[in-house]
Amino acid sequence: MDNAGPQLLTQSDELRKRALRRTPGGVHSNVRLSGSQDFIKCARGAWLYSVDGQDYVDYLLGQGPNFLGHAPKHIVDAVFTACRDGVIFGGQHELEVRAAELVCDAVGWADMIRFSMTGTEAVQAALRLARAATGRTKIIRFEGHYHGWLDNVLMSQRDGKWGTASSGQLARHLEDSILLPWNDAARLADALDEHGDEVAAVIMEPIMINAGVIEPLPGYLEAARRLASEYGAVLIFDEVISGFRLGLGGGAGRYGVTPDLATYGKAIAGGFPVAALVGRADLMDRFGTGEVNHSGTFNSSVMATAAVTATLTSLVEDPPYDRIAEHGNALMAGLREIGAAHEVPLRVSGLPQAFHVSFGDAKVTDYRSLQQLDLARYETLASSLVEHGIWVTGRGVWYVSASHGQRELETALTRFDKALTEWVAQ
Ligand SMILES: Cc1ncc(COP(=O)(O)O)c(C=O)c1O
Repeated sequence: MDNAGPQLLTQSDELRKRALRRTPGGVHSNVRLSGSQDFIKCARGAWLYSVDGQDYVDYLLGQGPNFLGHAPKHIVDAVFTACRDGVIFGGQHELEVRAAELVCDAVGWADMIRFSMTGTEAVQAALRLARAATGRTKIIRFEGHYHGWLDNVLMSQRDGKWGTASSGQLARHLEDSILLPWNDAARLADALDEHGDEVAAVIMEPIMINAGVIEPLPGYLEAARRLASEYGAVLIFDEVISGFRLGLGGGAGRYGVTPDLATYGKAIAGGFPVAALVGRADLMDRFGTGEVNHSGTFNSSVMATAAVTATLTSLVEDPPYDRIAEHGNALMAGLREIGAAHEVPLRVSGLPQAFHVSFGDAKVTDYRSLQQLDLARYETLASSLVEHGIWVTGRGVWYVSASHGQRELETALTRFDKALTEWVAQ
């Protein structure tokens, strides 16, 4: 007979029960259906605290936005102060001018900007603009690159075939997509050779962070730039993750290749919901004449532009990039050492600002070769890491913020070692 008595529900359990009654899956973004179901009470710096008293060193950063850590005081204060005088005007205001200047100056190559709320919207604006400017419809994009959750960009692979990723998604909205393996300049050249006069845009993450944090091969971005220009297609870098994370110039700056348009989000606003499309004036001007519609009730709100202004000011005046690289490099090296000590084929690759953890030793240059790694095995380790107080998700991408320091490094490595010891013994 089981005489252990009734199991006490944790506060997270109680909240989850309530959430499930009113919210499908208990979450407001399907991305959160997997991963920890613990409820968070508050977050400071590089730490999350659950309602049940567990603390976590955070390497998910809210899926990337908390690049300066959680609730950076100067940004939260700037937003609160600005919002006391109004949040949204249905008219223009000085902060949005300042924010636009700061972003364009930081990006370097971009003449103009339009703000939106989400990366998904910024991508849609970019695609529409490219189609308007070229009078063409097709979009070349790449396996494993994520550009938001709408019908014309969302794709997944099932039974070896790429197609819609959601029930209810219109398959015909993907008909204008030409999907290629990434990092293969010959394939891109062939596709443009065949469809060049129909291709409005080539869109890619300049470094494929979403799937495996894979860097472009030497010369690949240059080839994409040359080919897009040759065939009159608009080159769009989706820098929603890489923007301001890899440096002020994002992926374009890191790899020295300039797109025609780029989308930004996540690290641009200290955790607040802001995204942006930046680009060449001759393209962006089409919004200004009214020829191309880009709208949004909440675009460039006081909250958004105060957050961008405070974030960009601090990135320029007190660049955190060296600190982040130091932490990320030490963390990556520490994880590798622990993996080696446990004699498991732990693979840690990518950049110190964003890296990927998995199992295996394949040479990975694109989505297909990424599948040779044991990604499912890492997913089980990720659950164990969360149980041991490291906040990560199963897809293996770890983000480092400006507020990760020595204490976080030591805690993360100690917890990782403990989690791996128990996981290996299972
Ligand atoms: C590269 C990239 N583009 C676009 C998006 C969509 O951004 P959002 O989730 O803000 O709509 C994401 C989100 O993760 C992303 O990683």
